[in-house]
Amino acid sequence: MSKKMRSIHDEETLGVVFEPRLVNRLLKYLRPYRVKVVLSVILLLIIAGAEQLGPYLTKIALDNYIVPGDFDGLIAIVAMFLGLYVTLAFARVGQAVVTGWVGEKVMFDIRREVFSHLQRQTLSFFDHNPVGRLVTRNTNDVQTLSEIFSSGVVVVFGDLFMLIGIIVAMLLLNWQLAIVAVAVVPLVVWVTFSFRGRLRDVFREVRVQTAAVNSYLQEHLSGVRIVQLFNHEKATAKGFSGVNDHLRQDHLHTVNLFSVFFPILEVLGAVAVALVILRGGNLTLDGAITIGTLVAFLQYAERFFRPIRDLAEKWNIFQAGMASAERVFDLLDTEPAIEEIDNPVKIEELDGRIEFDNVRFRYNPGDDEVLKGVDFTIEPGETAAIVGATGAGKTTIINLIGRFYDVSDGTIRMDGHDVRDLRRDDLLRDIAYVSQDIFLFSGTIRDNITLGDEFTDEHVQHAAKQVHADSFIQRLPKGYDEEVTERGGTLSTGQRQLLSFARAMVRNPKVLVLDEATSSVDPETEAYIQDALEVMMKGRTSIIVAHRLSTVQRADKILVMHKGTLREMGTHAELLAQKGIYWRLFELQYRRVA
Ligand SMILES: Nc1ncnc2c1ncn2[C@@H]1O[C@H](COP(=O)(O)OP(=O)(O)OP(=O)(O)O)[C@@H](O)[C@H]1O
Ligand SMILES: [Mg+2]
Repeated sequence: MSKKMRSIHDEETLGVVFEPRLVNRLLKYLRPYRVKVVLSVILLLIIAGAEQLGPYLTKIALDNYIVPGDFDGLIAIVAMFLGLYVTLAFARVGQAVVTGWVGEKVMFDIRREVFSHLQRQTLSFFDHNPVGRLVTRNTNDVQTLSEIFSSGVVVVFGDLFMLIGIIVAMLLLNWQLAIVAVAVVPLVVWVTFSFRGRLRDVFREVRVQTAAVNSYLQEHLSGVRIVQLFNHEKATAKGFSGVNDHLRQDHLHTVNLFSVFFPILEVLGAVAVALVILRGGNLTLDGAITIGTLVAFLQYAERFFRPIRDLAEKWNIFQAGMASAERVFDLLDTEPAIEEIDNPVKIEELDGRIEFDNVRFRYNPGDDEVLKGVDFTIEPGETAAIVGATGAGKTTIINLIGRFYDVSDGTIRMDGHDVRDLRRDDLLRDIAYVSQDIFLFSGTIRDNITLGDEFTDEHVQHAAKQVHADSFIQRLPKGYDEEVTERGGTLSTGQRQLLSFARAMVRNPKVLVLDEATSSVDPETEAYIQDALEVMMKGRTSIIVAHRLSTVQRADKILVMHKGTLREMGTHAELLAQKGIYWRLFELQYRRVA
């Protein structure tokens, strides 16, 4: 796989905090909401400035009114003080709402972009990227990334403004005392930086473990049937406890680090306040500053450490956010391996002539070839049945027709055009796929037939009738509006098959590609399925991986696959006469039941 693809697995890449390329790309997501962003920053500026008036008002109250004993003046100041903080509260609410709104909006946009990007990826991409990871990418990583906006950038700006505001206020009051107050700041910076490295490491561990937990959950919940069938709940639970415990320990590490870090900062803050009391008390006693100034200074000194502590925390949010941004962008940058050429051949409708010309295929570079030079042609309207032992390459052949993978060598032609020269949309529009395992989505029966495309109810019902699905659907309490619980667990295997046939027929495809399910159903349903198959094959090119004797016998051509090569081709009668692989297969598989 390419370097890009590999990085999608990699939870460990760490972003640097300010990488201009990343920052620029992130800012793009803010552009549609720039008015709100500017509003938010303005509100922050106002808050940061106005907040510094509080201690100053205290000083005025003390020096100008309390000490001289002017009670009326004091009331006025107290009223101003209250007014100031009420206004501040409103500004804060507004600021939080606007910022939150923008953050959520950005997150929404990115999630949507990631999801539609994932949907365009090829099957081989999903062969190599566990679904749990991709889910993490689109939830946790996007969340972390958006925290840069919602609690990162904005708060960092706010904190910086706040710091500047406090320093300016202190310098204006008394520059000598200001220097005393900030004396411990270098120490704070040093402590913060030494913790930062460790925090970064444990945060990274937390991310790696979160992804592991998600993957594990995803896999074992999807496979819960198997887990239960094999009575594997205990082992599975134990496996989960393993990953879960790792995550707990990693979280605990962060908790422990923070529980040391914050008290240290707390102490340093106290030292700063103590220094101010000491030196400020001295200056007050000397009469160099007023008591009001001292009190104001004490308030400033205490406030000073809040933004510094925040900044230390935000630094991590930033870093985690940037790392997430990098991973999300890497994902968004993976080009689908199936690329469209610049000037594709445009075709309105397929005739349905399928031609394999010496097709060779391997799923991954370095793997063994799964198809070793396959040649055949299916004329429009013909039915071809592919038979062969398991692993012979039958499903692979039909995956290649719809260009879910590209051939390693040779050519596949549709209506005489190399499928690589066609628009993928044109190619797939007229091909209906019925796969070996039928996937049903949560939604109604109708949704599962139309897959969200626009079809009239009559059209849907007509398609369902053709394949004998209508009668069982009508018997459901809500008919076509019956909700399919996740993956259609409440429908029988036969019903699911008929439903998947209806899904193919509603599109009235020119080419039908069908991987017959091997599971057996009751004789009545079997008769329905056989009849439905016949209806579906009529008048269209059909290529069917066949397990039913009836399907095979009816085919115009039988392709006999053996270990990746096409060994025999012909009609049922011709192949039996050859007494080759097909004949043997027939003897083994069908003779006794036929
Ligand atoms: N996504 C994949 N990645 C790598 N190898 C694969 C993949 N899918 C199939 N293979 C391999 O390709 C070979 C052919 O598989 P294929 O699914 O085409 O067999 P099949 O003839 O359809 O078998 P069955 O009758 O069991 O469905 C097998 O050896 C299989 O292991
Ligand atoms: Mg198969």
